[in-house]
Amino acid sequence: MFAEMFTQLGDMPEPVSNAEINDRQRALFSKFDNGDLLILCASPETIHSNDVHHPYRTQSNLLYLSGWTEPDAVMCSLNINGKWETHLFVQPKDTLKEIWEGRRPGVEGAVENWPVDYAHSVDELQAKLADFIAQSSKIMHRMGIMPEVDELVVKAIKKRDRARQRYGTGPISIEDPSNLIAEMRLIKSDSEIAQMKFASDVSSLAHIAAMKHGGGNNAKENQLQSLIEGFFRYAGTSGWSYPSIVGSGENATILHYKQNEDYCKDGDVVLIDAGAEFRGYAADITRSWPNNGQFTDAQKEIYQIVLDAQIAAIDECVVGNPYNAPHEAARKVLAEGLIKLGVITQSLEDSLDMTDGQLKDWYMHNTSHWIGLDVHDVGVYLPNGEPRLLESGMCLTIEPGLYFGAWRPDVECPEKYANIGIRIEDDILVTKDGPVVLTDMCPKTIAEIESIVGSDK
Ligand code: GLY
Ligand code: MN
Ligand code: MN
Repeated sequence: MFAEMFTQLGDMPEPVSNAEINDRQRALFSKFDNGDLLILCASPETIHSNDVHHPYRTQSNLLYLSGWTEPDAVMCSLNINGKWETHLFVQPKDTLKEIWEGRRPGVEGAVENWPVDYAHSVDELQAKLADFIAQSSKIMHRMGIMPEVDELVVKAIKKRDRARQRYGTGPISIEDPSNLIAEMRLIKSDSEIAQMKFASDVSSLAHIAAMKHGGGNNAKENQLQSLIEGFFRYAGTSGWSYPSIVGSGENATILHYKQNEDYCKDGDVVLIDAGAEFRGYAADITRSWPNNGQFTDAQKEIYQIVLDAQIAAIDECVVGNPYNAPHEAARKVLAEGLIKLGVITQSLEDSLDMTDGQLKDWYMHNTSHWIGLDVHDVGVYLPNGEPRLLESGMCLTIEPGLYFGAWRPDVECPEKYANIGIRIEDDILVTKDGPVVLTDMCPKTIAEIESIVGSDK
């Protein structure tokens, strides 16, 4: 089954090139002063149990500016005599460790094949970093990722030695470069879009597989999850970009449901929110479909409102619009739909009120987030307190939903819509020619979905 699906995928794109990563470094350095020292740390490895680690995923800023994916790494950049140089500290070659844990590029591999000027063993980090710090006047470093680096940085700032007294040398401040890097990461290059498109296509095909082969009475949520995540790996992505949400019936009304172990019952709506990660880039797709292949009339009513809201929101993903224009468009369509169904009894204006409006009873989350190297990608939404305007190259999700949890004690759920949970989520690229739906391989109209669900069982 996976082999046939795989044929529908285009070729894997070329990875982001070293030249592009060098360009990113230069663009960042151009915002720095000459005495700045940039330090980027890899995320720590984390323990699953005892001596078993979670699969490793590094920190996205380090990945963005070095391409390095292994743990125990630090990148430092500083300006020496008018020229910026980048040093990467990596795990050295170690035959015994490599026999057990896998091959390492090592210091030579790093400097040969990654876009850095120098590479060193991470064993030299303390001494070399102390030397870099002594030459700097400001340290661009995000605290809290690698405690041993934090300690060195704080010690250097506190230090009051003769050189500082006499010559005024040494760092005097620490600044977090994350916002500067986030501004760059907000705008995706063609090569980044190609990685995201591949992640999106793989994810779309995985959702289709769940619709085709899963579902039906006695299917279990975990079985649908295995189809989806199995294809993520089959297709050559690293796996999920966030834990898959597979909820049937009332579980579909729980936004971040993660147990994924119930039976999917006749008449249930199944909501699957799952996306693959490819070379660090995320996809994030939600589809909601009838487990038995046919929406009930009540399910159709809710589904169509959410779909109309999603399409209205996607239409707002145009250059120059405030980032929250899609959210406002989606909210309006959802509220109008629920007023028509008699679920909302207020005026349109009153229903949208964030304190007393009835819409928030059934739609309680935002419509969008940036997406890129992190599924909830970086980038300030309200710079200087004003909504950011959309620019060509930005990527965001559009994911309206309606959730009628009959189990909720805080609201009276309309009986007709009890335990219907619908979310429809796509990933959108903003371009000067209008919105491009990166996840467009994944069907979403009622007719398409009804023709696919259960078709291969
Ligand atoms: N899957 C997480 C989200 O949709 O934001
Ligand atoms: Mn999302
Ligand atoms: Mn999602």
